[in-house]
Order: sequence, then structure tokens, then C-alpha cells
Amino acid sequence: MRFLKGKDYKDASRKAANIISAQIIMKPNCVLGLATGSSPIGAYNQLIDWYKKGDLDFSEVSTINLDEYKGLSGEHEQSYRYFMNTNLFNHVNIEKSKTFVPDGLAEDDDRECARYNEIIKSKGIDLQLLGLGHNGHIGFNEPDDAFEKETHIVKLSENTILANSRLFEEVSHVPRYAFTMGIKNIMQARKIVVIVSGVDKADIVKEVFFGPVTPKVPGSILQMHNDVTVIGDEAAFSKIGI
Ligand code: GLP
Repeated sequence: MRFLKGKDYKDASRKAANIISAQIIMKPNCVLGLATGSSPIGAYNQLIDWYKKGDLDFSEVSTINLDEYKGLSGEHEQSYRYFMNTNLFNHVNIEKSKTFVPDGLAEDDDRECARYNEIIKSKGIDLQLLGLGHNGHIGFNEPDDAFEKETHIVKLSENTILANSRLFEEVSHVPRYAFTMGIKNIMQARKIVVIVSGVDKADIVKEVFFGPVTPKVPGSILQMHNDVTVIGDEAAFSKIGI
């Protein structure tokens, strides 16, 4: 694993954007696995900036997002489809038909999981971007007794519901279930880039990357991947001596 420390969030975001942009330049028709949450927003802003300056071309890029809340349509402001459109896709020349996010309104959960899984398998992810939940979740793979392998429906933990309620009017509005890629889907990505920032992530960063590999801390499985770059600011790295 490589650790890249930025002075602050902006610096860390630029480092992450640099790696993503290198991927797009080296392979214009690459498949990017994308994440939502606060962590990747700075990197997305930087990519938009480089696109506007003429340095990046998204016309052949495909994207596959990690997860989506069950029950929210893509027009709902807290859906991850809406997040991706407003934070990245609407501002670059990507073809929306090549951007994939699970359908939060799918009626048949099993069918939606199978459909999404097939998209991941048939395309193959060149670079997967990840944030880290406070409980070590990646995508919405919550702490459990075993690693879930493929796309599945997950019951969100109380901890996650509370953490994500900051973006909803009240806690009761946060969906209780979500579709998420599984651990095997994530681990099959050729490269993985994790972005972490803020002192509130310092403990979990230590546990995930230096603790035992266990489904109780889902991100710890990343220790078994052979191409992981963890990018953080000083605060997030403050407990790992980097
Ligand atoms: C959310 C998402 C994750 C994200 C994580 C951290 O629940 N499902 O994909 O990485 O929580 O979010 P943040 O970056 O806002 O701390």
C-alpha cells in the first residue's frame, strides 16, 4: 500500500485527482469505479477544473458507482445518482449512458443486484475510488460476520444512518437500506484509491490499514489488494505515523 499525505483536504484532493486523471489519459476508455460522500468532492472539483482547462476528456470514459439508497429516485437530492450528476457528470463531457448507479427504485431487489453485478463483471473496473465510513465500511459494506462478495442489499447500521443524517432534514428520512457493490466486486478493481480526511477518520484509518483483516472492519480487506493508494490529509493520518 502507498500512503500519500496532503497538507490539507485540498492538497489531498489534488493528489487523488492526479491519479484519476493519469488513468484517463493513459486509457481514455477506462472504467472508473466512483464513490459519493464528502471525501471525493474535492477530487471531483479538481477534475472538473482540469476538464474546463482542456486537459481532460471524459468522452470515452465509463463509470460505475459503488452504491445507492434503496427507495430514492435519481432525482431525489440525497440520492447518489443526483450527487454524481451535480458533483461531476453535469460539468464534464461524459456520456450519461455510460455512467452506472444502482436503481434505487428497482422493484425486484434480486434482479437489480444481478443486473448491476453483470455490469461490473462485464466492464471490469480499472480504478476504484473509495471513501471510508466511520465504522470502516467501504461502499455500503457494513461490519458483519462475513464479507459479502457481490452486489447486494444491505441494512444500514445505526452508526451509518446517524452519520449520513447530516444531509437529510431529519434522521427518520434517511433510507434504512441500500444497494451496494460487494467486497469481491471492489477487490477485483485493478487499482484502488482511498481518500480520507479529517481527524474524525484518524482512528478508523489506523484500524483499516494496520489492524487485523476482518469483516468487522470491512475496509481492512484492502490490505490484501496489491495496488492500493491511500490519500489523506494530516489530520486523517495523525494516528499512523505517516
Ligand atoms: C457513505 C458512503 C460511502 C462513503 C462513506 C464516507 O455512507 N456509502 O461510500 O465512502 O459513507 O463518507 P464521507 O466521505 O462523507 O465521510
